[in-house]
Amino acid sequence: MDEEALTRALKDTPISAMRALAETGSTNDIALQWIDAGAEDLSLVIADRQTQGRGRLNHTWVTEPDASLAFSLILKPTAVEAAAPSALFAPMCGLAVATALEKRYSLYPQIKWPNDVLLERQKCCGILVEAAWSGSQLAGIVLGIGINIQAGALPAGTTTRFPATWIEKYTRQSVDRFELLAEVLKQLAAWRGQIGSDLFFREWERRLAFRGEIIRVEESEKSSIIGTEYGVDSTGALLVQSPDGIQHRIEVGDVHLSPTQA
Ligand code: BTN
Repeated sequence: MDEEALTRALKDTPISAMRALAETGSTNDIALQWIDAGAEDLSLVIADRQTQGRGRLNHTWVTEPDASLAFSLILKPTAVEAAAPSALFAPMCGLAVATALEKRYSLYPQIKWPNDVLLERQKCCGILVEAAWSGSQLAGIVLGIGINIQAGALPAGTTTRFPATWIEKYTRQSVDRFELLAEVLKQLAAWRGQIGSDLFFREWERRLAFRGEIIRVEESEKSSIIGTEYGVDSTGALLVQSPDGIQHRIEVGDVHLSPTQA
């Protein structure tokens, strides 16, 4: 990890402390341990390679040096933030990544509920938000973000559960991952101030992928809902209307493009 270049790129961002690692299991795990050890708000963990990168719903996440950007940002939520629906922190990250990609590279990313960032209906960024508790007190929140910069970021030899892509495929210029990180951190600071606001929901719904389309949401291995996606509610749940007219609020699940797609 080129720490000098990293520090230079982050000079105008609101980071309070940083751990930059060549290799680790999972940056989220390091961040969770750091919260136990007294990390401050806006402490950052970044790694070139993750050997045990974790995704949502127990999936794994591959991180390769140079091809991927993988980091975890620690938030020590204010009382107001702690009172916001916890399900809004992951889409907050999705909004930050999407707006950063738009601002820096003039791309127009969409957000697959709840938080995957898509370019042309393929996933370029995954987000895993985890909370650390001290008894019944929320001790901190870890925002884990993985972005595919180059083709080498995609898992070799395996097919992903949802079609995946990488950013440089669309930018037609090389992407400096530390500059992208700096922009995402600035956007995170901005969206943090908007969590749960009208603007937050307006922008999320504007970018919501597959709105008005028929999707299948896998709630668990055994249960799926098929229907038309029509929005999100104020707790961050996905709203889907099935063909029998029933409206479903879905709190946890994996969205697939069509009823038959695996
Ligand atoms: C997903 O799409 O399922 C979420 C993937 C989240 C990956 C990021 S990379 C940085 C952080 N560390 C992890 O172990 N996971 C997250």
